[in-house]
Amino acid sequence: MESLAFADAGGDKASRYRELAPQLAALVAGEPDLVANLANAAAAIRACVRATSWVGFYVLKHDELVLGPFQGNVACVRIALGRGVCGTAASERRTVIVPDVEQFAGHIACDSGSRSEIVVPIISRGELVAVLDLDSYELAAFDELDAQGLAPIAELLGTLAW
Ligand code: SME
Repeated sequence: MESLAFADAGGDKASRYRELAPQLAALVAGEPDLVANLANAAAAIRACVRATSWVGFYVLKHDELVLGPFQGNVACVRIALGRGVCGTAASERRTVIVPDVEQFAGHIACDSGSRSEIVVPIISRGELVAVLDLDSYELAAFDELDAQGLAPIAELLGTLAW
C-alpha cells in the first residue's frame, strides 16, 4: 500500500487534519472489520498528528473502557467510566483537552513521559462506543484546533460496525 500523502507532507495542523479525514474515509471504505479499521485509523492519525507519543482507542465493553487498537507503548488495559481523562470524556461524552496531565486530578499515567492529552468520544447511533485518545510528550500539544480536526474523524469512526 502506498504511504499516506500527509505522512511526509508539510502544512499546518488544520490543513493536515483536513487531509486526514478523506484519506481515513478511503482507508475504511468497503472494509467491515472493526479491528482492522481501528488499527489503520490509529496508524493514520499518528502519522498525521506529529506531536503524538501514543494514539489509540478504548472501547466500551460492559460499562468499562477496554484497550483497543493503538500505536505506541503498552498501555493500561481497563479504565472505569468517570476515571482518568478517557473515563471522563466517555462519561461526559465530550472532548477533553488536558494541556498538562499533572494538573488533571485522576489522570492515569500509562507512560510516565506523557505530558498532555486529548480524548474524543466516539458515538455510534446515539450511543457512546469508544474514545479516541492522543497523548504527547510535549506540554500543551493539543488545543481547540485538534478538537476541531478530530471531530469529523470521530464522526466517521462512529459509522463503523461497532
Ligand atoms: N492517560 C489516560 C489513560 C490512557 S493512556 O494515556 C494510553 C487517562 O488518564 O485516561
